[in-house]
Amino acid sequence: MKLCVVGGGSTYTPELVDGLARLRDTLPVSELALVDPDERRLGPVGAVSRRILARYGHPAAIRTTTVLDEGVDGAGAVLLQLRVGGQAARRVDETLPLACGCVGQETTGAGGLAKALRTVPVVLGIAERIARLAPDAWIVDFTNPVGIVTRALLDAGHRAVGLCNVAIGFQRHFARTLGVPPGDIRLGHVGLNHLTWERSVHLGEEDVLPRLLAEHGEQLAADIGLPSALLRRLGVVPSYYLRYFYEHDAVVAEQLAAPPRAEEVAAIEERLLRMYADPALDTKPELLERRGGAFYSEAAVDLVASLSAGRGDIQVVNVRNGDRLPFLPPEAVIEVPARVTAAGADPLPVDPVEPLFAGLIAHVTAYEELALEAALKGGVDRVTDALLAHPLIGQVSTATDLADRLVAANATHLPWA
Ligand code: G6P
Ligand code: MN
Ligand code: MN
Repeated sequence: MKLCVVGGGSTYTPELVDGLARLRDTLPVSELALVDPDERRLGPVGAVSRRILARYGHPAAIRTTTVLDEGVDGAGAVLLQLRVGGQAARRVDETLPLACGCVGQETTGAGGLAKALRTVPVVLGIAERIARLAPDAWIVDFTNPVGIVTRALLDAGHRAVGLCNVAIGFQRHFARTLGVPPGDIRLGHVGLNHLTWERSVHLGEEDVLPRLLAEHGEQLAADIGLPSALLRRLGVVPSYYLRYFYEHDAVVAEQLAAPPRAEEVAAIEERLLRMYADPALDTKPELLERRGGAFYSEAAVDLVASLSAGRGDIQVVNVRNGDRLPFLPPEAVIEVPARVTAAGADPLPVDPVEPLFAGLIAHVTAYEELALEAALKGGVDRVTDALLAHPLIGQVSTATDLADRLVAANATHLPWA
């Protein structure tokens, strides 16, 4: 199969290539096309990727190109991992909301909205080329904000599934803690992308979450940055993105006192690119572990493999709600375990969701719908409405002010501004 990666010049690509090489029996790839507009990245990233495959004796050919159509043509699957505006635009997402007392984060709150505004039109343009040049290809979207981008792709009629590494991260973490193979762990993962809770952790027939919380609650809570008493009382493990909600003001205070993540990542990326250019490097460097994408390659390989070979296994993905969460519109995109076959990802039934979680899920779903409207149709009023609907913004003066500032700061990336 030909696999195409849009945003293939990302410094994450060697992680993906390493996964493709290790998991070649799961997903046989004969050609890997890395598409990216940035030749400065594409050169070293392509070169180290070839060396990694060679070290494993993997037969796939790697082709790097700045021309989307060349990369997409004839692909069996396309992975989207792009970042419109790069770390510079991310820096704005992470800093501008702070001036209004709101969390500065690339996918949550006002920053996530700005990212959606920049990203949705670009991704839809790419998807149109895929529909034309590789009409049978599955699109796996890792591009953030994954929930909104996946919804945009599905609404436009594309064969798309959204993917994030948070769930696989928990699965691997719990498996290591319990000393069992990751495949033996089934997560009761529910919510929206970057707004999820683990409500059960099944090992065979047994729900071991109570045991995990009793014996490892302190460590789990520390990893997430939330009080262990909260996890134990609620009997769930929230993703660390819930900290932006449950500890919003504390996070704002921390962010005001520290450099933005975009700055850290930009520095890591410069170092990585220099390493990738070294002809002696033929493994993914340890430095890559300082990025947030742990297990990204396993998740991507598993998903593409099941979509193309119809394995029918269960994976946590972003899919249409249908009737799974009855308090949401059927068209909403949710992040839950789904059975993955060649026909797509079919979400499993979900136990009724407690009001404490359902309220926030419904609230953010409404925001996501308005965010997508704003991204598709433009206009500062639509941006303001989306911010008004967001549980972390909500006040009219803040929403109006932030909308003006975000649109002005992103004008070069917004066709309508
Ligand atoms: C996690 C999230 C991704 C996000 C990444 C950011 O992996 O699931 O959606 O892109 O973190 O990591 P970074 O190293 O860019 O801060
Ligand atoms: Mn994610
Ligand atoms: Mn259970």
